[in-house]
Amino acid sequence: MTRAYVSGTGYYVPERVVTNDDLAALMDTSDEWITERTGIKERRYVADGVGTTDVAIPAAEQALEAASLTVQDIDLIIFATSTPDYMAPGSGCLLQDRMGFPEIGALDIRVQCSGFVYGLSIADQYIRAGTFRHILLVGAEVQSTGLDLSDAGRDVGVIFGDGAGAAVISATEEERGVLSTHLHSEGKHAKELWSEVPASGRNPRISVEDVNEGRHWLKMNGREVFRHAVTRFPESIMEAITANGMTAKDVKLIIPHQANLRITMEVARRLKVPLERIHSNIDRYGNTTAASIPICLAEAVSDGTIQAGDHVVLVAFGSGFTWASAMIKW
Ligand code: UT7
Repeated sequence: MTRAYVSGTGYYVPERVVTNDDLAALMDTSDEWITERTGIKERRYVADGVGTTDVAIPAAEQALEAASLTVQDIDLIIFATSTPDYMAPGSGCLLQDRMGFPEIGALDIRVQCSGFVYGLSIADQYIRAGTFRHILLVGAEVQSTGLDLSDAGRDVGVIFGDGAGAAVISATEEERGVLSTHLHSEGKHAKELWSEVPASGRNPRISVEDVNEGRHWLKMNGREVFRHAVTRFPESIMEAITANGMTAKDVKLIIPHQANLRITMEVARRLKVPLERIHSNIDRYGNTTAASIPICLAEAVSDGTIQAGDHVVLVAFGSGFTWASAMIKW
């Protein structure tokens, strides 16, 4: 039986470090408030003119190198982002061109914070079906250019950061790799975390008035998102565990989307899992949406936290609402 496994990982974050004190110079906030409510100490922002594909490239190059593959070996690009370079075409096409891939398929998926896990489920299906042998899966975001860094946007502005993570998903005949994936959505909550414009239902899609009224910024009903997140994360983790006839004790590492450290702590409490078994880097990078899970994964692989034979759960929740999990045997 053919299974999909992670044959290489990589990540990239921009050099520019933005501390909580840097944000406190721009808006009415403080290091104390941000640290206490979110666990974030700093995040990375791109330089002017740097877009989502730009941050994806070094992460993808690293993942290819770790997998000992070249662009010629890849059969499909899956690009998860909520901040594509343009409304059209997708960032996957830009990556195909910039990195010199052959004329392979390039698929953008827009599932916000759950994008990487959704992307993994797609890669898994193509590989199990025998259609492809190697797929490049990228999660990349430039959030900083969509944040209102004034007092009015302080609840959202302090949370998000820029970055990219990538993984090569390859075929194996061994008893390992992606064991299951579990996808969900509940679109009635779409406006709890969204950007209203540009919108296809408006003509023009974005107007000067929209910009003056701040409709282009990312907006979030933080309390509502939080309330759903603390239920969906544990539920989704347990879905992956029970689908494989396991218990939480069998899982070496849980890699949650980095939404908020308080959410991670609540997940640990509800599942009675020690915090050391839940990967966290939100203090350094903030919430990087679709990039957060592949960045964590690349860190946990490179620092040796994940070893052959370990069971790892990836889990995400975010805008949509969407949520998803995956069980991987390393
Ligand atoms: O990746 C997508 C998933 N996103 C998430 O999971 C985010 C989920 N939500 C959260 O993490 C939290 O709701 C936040 C961190 C966004 C906010 O924390 P909270 O404890 O829910 O705060 P709140 O929105 O209830 O606001 C409490 C107070 C308010 O002031 P008043 O009305 O009590 O006077 C806010 O105006 O904190 C104020 N506030 C701030 N104060 C200083 C909101 N943002 C800030 C800020 N600095 N940046």
